[in-house]
Amino acid sequence: MSQATDTDVREDGIIESVSGPVVTARDLDARMNDVVYVGSEGLMGEVIEIEGNITTIQVYEETSGVSPGEPVEGTGSPLSVDLGPGMLDAIYDGVQRPLDVLEEKMGSAFLDRGVDAPGIDLEKTWEFTPEVEEGDEVEAGDIVGTVPETPSIDHKVMVPPDSEGGEVVAIESGNFNVEETVVELDSGEEIQMHQEWPVRQQRPTVEKETPTEPLISGQRVLDGLFPIAKGGTAAIPGPFGSGKTVTQHQLAKWADADIVVYVGCGERGNEMTEVIEDFPELEDPTTGNALMDRTCLIANTSNMPVAARESCVYTGITIAEYFRDMGYDVALMADSTSRWAEAMREISSRLEEMPGEEGYPAYLSARLSEFYERAGYFENINGTEGSVSVIGAVSPPGGDFSEPVTQNTLRIVKTFWALDADLAERRHFPSINWNESYSLYRDQLDPWFEDNVRADWPETRQWAIDTLDEEAELQEIVQLVGKDALPEDQQLTLEIARYLREAWLQQNAFHDVDTFCEPEKTYRIMDAAKTYNDAAFEALDAGVPVEEITDIDAAPRLNRIGVQEDYNEYIDDLEDDIESQLRELY
Ligand SMILES: Nc1ncnc2c1ncn2[C@@H]1O[C@H](COP(=O)(O)OP(=O)(O)OP(=O)(O)O)[C@@H](O)[C@H]1O
Ligand SMILES: [Mg+2]
Repeated sequence: MSQATDTDVREDGIIESVSGPVVTARDLDARMNDVVYVGSEGLMGEVIEIEGNITTIQVYEETSGVSPGEPVEGTGSPLSVDLGPGMLDAIYDGVQRPLDVLEEKMGSAFLDRGVDAPGIDLEKTWEFTPEVEEGDEVEAGDIVGTVPETPSIDHKVMVPPDSEGGEVVAIESGNFNVEETVVELDSGEEIQMHQEWPVRQQRPTVEKETPTEPLISGQRVLDGLFPIAKGGTAAIPGPFGSGKTVTQHQLAKWADADIVVYVGCGERGNEMTEVIEDFPELEDPTTGNALMDRTCLIANTSNMPVAARESCVYTGITIAEYFRDMGYDVALMADSTSRWAEAMREISSRLEEMPGEEGYPAYLSARLSEFYERAGYFENINGTEGSVSVIGAVSPPGGDFSEPVTQNTLRIVKTFWALDADLAERRHFPSINWNESYSLYRDQLDPWFEDNVRADWPETRQWAIDTLDEEAELQEIVQLVGKDALPEDQQLTLEIARYLREAWLQQNAFHDVDTFCEPEKTYRIMDAAKTYNDAAFEALDAGVPVEEITDIDAAPRLNRIGVQEDYNEYIDDLEDDIESQLRELY
């Protein structure tokens, strides 16, 4: 990002005051969102307010020791990311400085100040293969060539979105670094393999389309009950330790996105260290290559400066949009958006802005919706289609969903995966509360499930939902009068619902086989429970006592389907056994 500042800081303005991450400067000629270098160490900052000749800057690095009177240098450019080959497999901080490069320069990843490092390696060469020829007309966004960025992903080199376009007068093939010109247009414009884009500005598209394909997560409760679309938005609110991070990691590993951008935002250092250490070891289940070959990590941990936490989600979504422009399906996970909102709150209070609810700035909801708005299934300006799905964890203090960040997020996102402390305590994982959660994509995704999994997917799922709903109602009665006071058919429903919960909704993220469940398997487990249900009610109608029905030895085998690799054969046998064992009772 931006240029290096190994030289002295030019005195375009003078520091007036320093309050944590917020610095004011006098006589600085800068525009909103411009990047500036602050103090004699040249700490990176961004202009967030201008009043008369006083400019307010949020500084992306620790400001202790920075004093009034020190210089501030303007760069004249807005906070931008550098986009080009080399972002996959990278780990960045909140302003796209590669953590490994920082570490090399400074010896420690988390303590540096005043170090700038380009977001992508400027020296590394990439093999560029042209996709257009001399004489071709190209427009903004058009793909002019490809680069094998990783074994999993071909990087598409595109005409920058703000280009006038023109006729190709020269195009090279071979090995180049990202700063060398690969295409020349008749207008004199030269195109390189990288481009800059301001992070706070959405990259242009032609149209947002209605998403019709699910982002398959391999998690039964999500795909089965609360699916998210490719290009959709989802929130995962949950109290401390309820499984937000595990759910985000599961999505990063298993979701059928081409590209994953994982933003670790303000969470504990050890959680992020886990990501940084774990992800590079993981295999991509679909290609067998490294998972990092299609992943970009952005890490801003709780011990890193708060302003860089404010920017990390923008850095992440801009990178996501860039890959979307190539025609890819991108999934962005942000863990946790609450820490981002808290960063906004801290900076707002330093600015002495009028606080809104619980001290959050009045623009909290606008910022959240601007961010989630950048998700979607799009027709890109080059005619390709691509998507950005956004999944944000929310960490409400005390697990109280009525607080402002959860409430404002709820108004925006279309999928709500509510994690539940009680379920987590009972070791029901993923502890997604099926009564409170919802997906507004369910109906529009049904045709996909009907065409690609089973024609009766919606009906079977509806049966599961009805059974779980009925269980929730019956539980209230059971609490008052006990289970034995219920009529036999209701006792049986409770038993079936228990299997739905244990065999279908529960899923162990740490079991080699159970960690991922393809949609066909999700269907078959649900359907196996229904097979038991239908045969059991037939037996009940024939006069068999409910205890005998629930006692058959085949039934508990339902709970072991999740861990079966050859699940089809296992389920075929199980269904036969359930039916014949019940038939023997009458
Ligand atoms: N799908 C799952 N399968 C098995 N165990 C799970 C699953 N989800 C969560 N857990 C268990 O719950 C623990 C806490 O999960 P996690 O760290 O994701 O919670 P969190 O909501 O991110 O917590 P925090 O608020 O501290 O960030 C995990 O370490 C794991 O033991
Ligand atoms: Mg967590």
